[in-house]
Amino acid sequence: MTTNIIIWLVVLILTLGAGWLTWRTVRTQRMWMKVAGGIGAGLLTILLAAVTILSGKGILTFLSPGAPAAPALTVAGTPEQLARGDYLVNLSCIGCHSVVGADGNPTEEHPLNGGWNISASEGFGFVGDMVAENLTPGGKLAGYSDGEIFNTLRHRVDKEGHLLGFMSLLPVNQLSDDDVHSIIAYLRTLPPVEQTATTGDKISFLGATMFGAGMFGAPEEAAETVVAPAEGVSAEYGKYVATYAECRGCHGADATGAPASAAGPAVPNPRLLVDTLSQDEFFEMMRTGVKPDGVAFPDTMPWTIASRLTDDDLAALYAYLTTAP
Ligand code: HEC
Ligand code: HEC
Repeated sequence: MTTNIIIWLVVLILTLGAGWLTWRTVRTQRMWMKVAGGIGAGLLTILLAAVTILSGKGILTFLSPGAPAAPALTVAGTPEQLARGDYLVNLSCIGCHSVVGADGNPTEEHPLNGGWNISASEGFGFVGDMVAENLTPGGKLAGYSDGEIFNTLRHRVDKEGHLLGFMSLLPVNQLSDDDVHSIIAYLRTLPPVEQTATTGDKISFLGATMFGAGMFGAPEEAAETVVAPAEGVSAEYGKYVATYAECRGCHGADATGAPASAAGPAVPNPRLLVDTLSQDEFFEMMRTGVKPDGVAFPDTMPWTIASRLTDDDLAALYAYLTTAP
């Protein structure tokens, strides 16, 4: 961010310079100079001012997103928490945080030592590097308290309180307190593995400006305390399943589709298809990755995550997707 702050200062100076130039041109005696020069320099000033405001806003959002201090928290690590954490992490986090394969993509296998540069490999490298973190105790989390790990999910900030770029676009802040505790307990039990690649964010000036302009969509607000709806085969619990199975992260907050943004092309409304399916057909599709018309999901639709859902969770998801939001 230091480089971005320096670039921001340069842009600010250029804006002031263009403003001064505009002032000078409109005060000249020659009429053509007044009009043509005034419009040209005026437009340049407006453009530079817009970049200054948006990039400044983006830089401030990263440096000071306004997250509360990490709570004092010690997770007990009961067998129930470890089992729940195992289920959630291997559904929800492994797709990005798993060990990277020879092709540079996550393998969805352990160890969860990260290293995947999601922005570069998904075609938005111009926003800077966003490299998945090492989640094993061999990485930076070894130096985090339970409360600090809690804040990475609930408020999507690192230990210093700076906003996490890609994590801030995910619905992880909607996970219940209990589930976050289970995730922390499970991560602590992973065997420590090191990661030699540089992890974390290195947001470019363009990336900061685009964040400032809201081009990645506005993330959902986090509540102070989150309680999951009662577990069961209901549309309400299904919405919660759609949160940790990531469906809402891509298909929009109500799983009704999402428009194209700087992070990728538009994502379709899954309800249109699911509404036409029986529960059995839905199970078949989500477990095999093949739609009833015989067309397989492309790589952009990570059905392997969903295929690991329990029967009850998948049934709840079906109830949610077939109930009007
Ligand atoms: C879509 C990809 C993706 C998914 C899914 C994902 N992460 Fe991340 N995560 C990242 C990236 C990329 C970073 C690097 C910082 C950034 O850009 O947010 C990161 C960073 C982190 C960090 C580091 C925080 C710090 O202080 O630097 C933690 C902890 C973390 N993720 C935990 C999780 C957990 C737990 C889950 C599952 C509930 C999860 N992540 C799911 C991509 C992902
Ligand atoms: C990483 C983003 C991502 C996640 C996570 C995701 N999807 Fe998708 N999904 C897509 C994309 C992109 C498509 C469109 C694929 C294509 O071009 O056919 C899609 C397609 C679909 C379709 C087919 C729609 C149609 O009319 O062909 C269904 C149904 C669906 N997703 C359901 C789900 C469910 C349920 C979940 C959660 C378990 C989920 N998706 C998670 C990105 C995602």
